[in-house]
Amino acid sequence: MKHILRVDQFDRPLLDQILARSDQMRLTAERGGDRRLAGRILATVFYEPSTRTRLSFESAMMRLGGNVVSSEMAAETSSAAKGESIEDTVRIIESYADAIVFRHPQAGIVDRAASVASVPVINGGDGAREHPTQALVDLYSINREIGRIDHLNVALVGDLKYGRAPRSLAMLLARTEGANIQLVSPPQLDLSDDVLSELDRVGVSHGVERDMAAAVASADVVYVTRIQKERFPSSEAYAEVEGAYQLTAETARTMKPGSVILHPLPRVDEIDAAVDALPQAAYFRQARNGVYVRMALLNMLINRHDALTA
Ligand code: NCD
Repeated sequence: MKHILRVDQFDRPLLDQILARSDQMRLTAERGGDRRLAGRILATVFYEPSTRTRLSFESAMMRLGGNVVSSEMAAETSSAAKGESIEDTVRIIESYADAIVFRHPQAGIVDRAASVASVPVINGGDGAREHPTQALVDLYSINREIGRIDHLNVALVGDLKYGRAPRSLAMLLARTEGANIQLVSPPQLDLSDDVLSELDRVGVSHGVERDMAAAVASADVVYVTRIQKERFPSSEAYAEVEGAYQLTAETARTMKPGSVILHPLPRVDEIDAAVDALPQAAYFRQARNGVYVRMALLNMLINRHDALTA
């Protein structure tokens, strides 16, 4: 595997290896990291806001002894603002860094970047399409919290149309055994046909459940997401769904023993702060897991002798 662009690159054996390597990286990080990427440089080039994805990639690189160069508001501060194409940007950055993480508002632009890159390109979120490393963090978190990734009842809640995180997670769950996915969204924000047809193709059981309380009570994993305000065509369209589905502590208390609440974060108002104190609230642990999984991914892409087989 040279680049990480979409979740369909990961088959089950590779997923199992990534989960195991991420767990080893957790122990490495807890011991203070090591030097296996010493002398290597990661570029993080973000054309959209980010806290967790960019900083956890940078932290992961540094925990392995590597260094980072970063363009944090690349739409305004990189040469993109002067009209440079993504292909030219890649041709420059690849001579400064051993791998590049891109986040960009345009779906598919990472594929263009990868097509000309001589170094690994990692998709840190492309528009409303995919966020593959987040989905791997989510799967790792599910495994750590619940102890398995198969035969899970997962409720995806919130913005399933514009949310790249739940889209990628749904497609990754399609690579596990016996997943049952409940789709909880306002009708305007239903999961799109491209993902639904992928779920159908691999035979994942899924259904729409507009009643969040019903979905929450039967789920092993409640995956709550932010309504992606910035992707709506108009403020009127956003106003129609603003505040839809807010998880309260009262509803969260009806969850099954051993079940968990995840959220890719940032949260706005879709999980009440009172939920944070419940044992099911795993979203801050999930964000920490981002470092371990990205350590495993960076090592796999940059350290050739540690490469995993797809
Ligand atoms: C998500 C994203 O950017 O897609 N955040 C993240 O990477 N953890 C989710 C969001 O912005 O709501």
